[in-house]
Amino acid sequence: MPSIKLNISKKVFNKVYIPYLNDNTPTQIFFGGSSSGKSVFLAQRAVYDLAKGGRNYLILRKVQRDCRKSVWNEVIKVIKKFGLYNHISTNKTELTITFPNGYQILFGGLDDSERIKSITPQKGVITDVWCEEATEFEEDDIKQLNKRLRGRAAAVKRLVLSFNPIIKNHWIFKTYFNYWNGDNNRYQNDRISILKTTYRKNKFLTPDDIDRLLSENDPYYRDVYIEGNWGVLGDIIFKNWEIKDISGMKNRLDRSCHGLDFGFSNDPAAVLKQYFDKSSNNLYIFDEIYEKGLTDKKLADLTYKLIEFEEVICDSAEPKSIKHLNNHKLNARGAKKGPGSIETRYRWYSGINIILSQKCVNIKRELQTHQWKKDKDGNSLKVPEDKNNHAIDASMYGLSDYWNLEMQSWYTQDYV
Ligand SMILES: Nc1ncnc2c1ncn2[C@@H]1O[C@H](COP(=O)(O)OP(=O)(O)O)[C@@H](O)[C@H]1O
Ligand SMILES: [Mg+2]
Repeated sequence: MPSIKLNISKKVFNKVYIPYLNDNTPTQIFFGGSSSGKSVFLAQRAVYDLAKGGRNYLILRKVQRDCRKSVWNEVIKVIKKFGLYNHISTNKTELTITFPNGYQILFGGLDDSERIKSITPQKGVITDVWCEEATEFEEDDIKQLNKRLRGRAAAVKRLVLSFNPIIKNHWIFKTYFNYWNGDNNRYQNDRISILKTTYRKNKFLTPDDIDRLLSENDPYYRDVYIEGNWGVLGDIIFKNWEIKDISGMKNRLDRSCHGLDFGFSNDPAAVLKQYFDKSSNNLYIFDEIYEKGLTDKKLADLTYKLIEFEEVICDSAEPKSIKHLNNHKLNARGAKKGPGSIETRYRWYSGINIILSQKCVNIKRELQTHQWKKDKDGNSLKVPEDKNNHAIDASMYGLSDYWNLEMQSWYTQDYV
């Protein structure tokens, strides 16, 4: 097997991560603010380890389709930067990268659990599992992965979690942060290492990058995404949801109520594939699109893939965009504007049972973090914050016929 000579200077790394380059702690946590260099470092370490040989990586996102745009690209960029691109072979369909020494980096999503269970490298065993955006994972996902990592190998096995600390009551906080007090932004014992970083540790950011990051005004966002602290939220609006395996249910549900919220540069477009069962008040959400920067055509193509010719109900404030969808043969219409305020709509939505498939990581995050506005004394205003509400809005548009009808009756009751 040809070996690879890696000739790189320490300067390619952000300094704060260098001690972790050869660290063999079995569980490693890299968390903090956004743009702190976590993902790039972990991609660099993967390539560095692969070039040395003796290790195979499994790099995971909760949802496989998110791999290509994130971790796959990060790793390929590093391979190019380290001058190795001509030495490796890639298979973008299978999501594998093979180094000349025979060791591999494999990518996947936990939504594709059959493949993940059976995936094996061509040589040796998987020694490293890196879960990117680990707050999207369920506790049981990580338990299963840990089981998978048991067993002997020549190299020490490692599980790495990287994420932004979206909310303090997350299972990751409860499981791994018992001894964490934030001293020096590090914690270390035999079993676990934790490193917290912020943009201040990333020497590669341009002043423009930093200005963009710091332009955020919302206190929660500043705390989590700039300072990298575990998010503390006030008055969370929705608690009426759970995650379930509903993949076997599809054929028994015929009342589709798909919803769509438009977005482009600042906000993502969101489409939800969902079904409502009026008799049980259960809303089943099977899948989602959640993406910034989609052109009309791309949004139409993705929506067609998701729901084909079934009706989708959209934000009626954007008739032009609805027209575009119709021109692409989609069965799209605007939500009717019925009576009632946002508050009453929210009241209705709080009263149903929302059941999410594990794929729906974006609406899950929104439901976990969407909160009421507060006045300056911290009292809840019963006005929702205009944050974390894109997938939620899409879901509500999809259900607009139901809540319009119901609110009509609330209103008649209120005023007779
Ligand atoms: N070692 C590095 N070399 C070059 N650029 C880097 C490096 N680390 C980070 N960056 C730059 O900083 C940006 C943010 O880093 P990233 O790893 O994505 O942060 P995080 O994962 O913490 O949000 C990257 O997109 C890249 O442009
Ligand atoms: Mg990242």
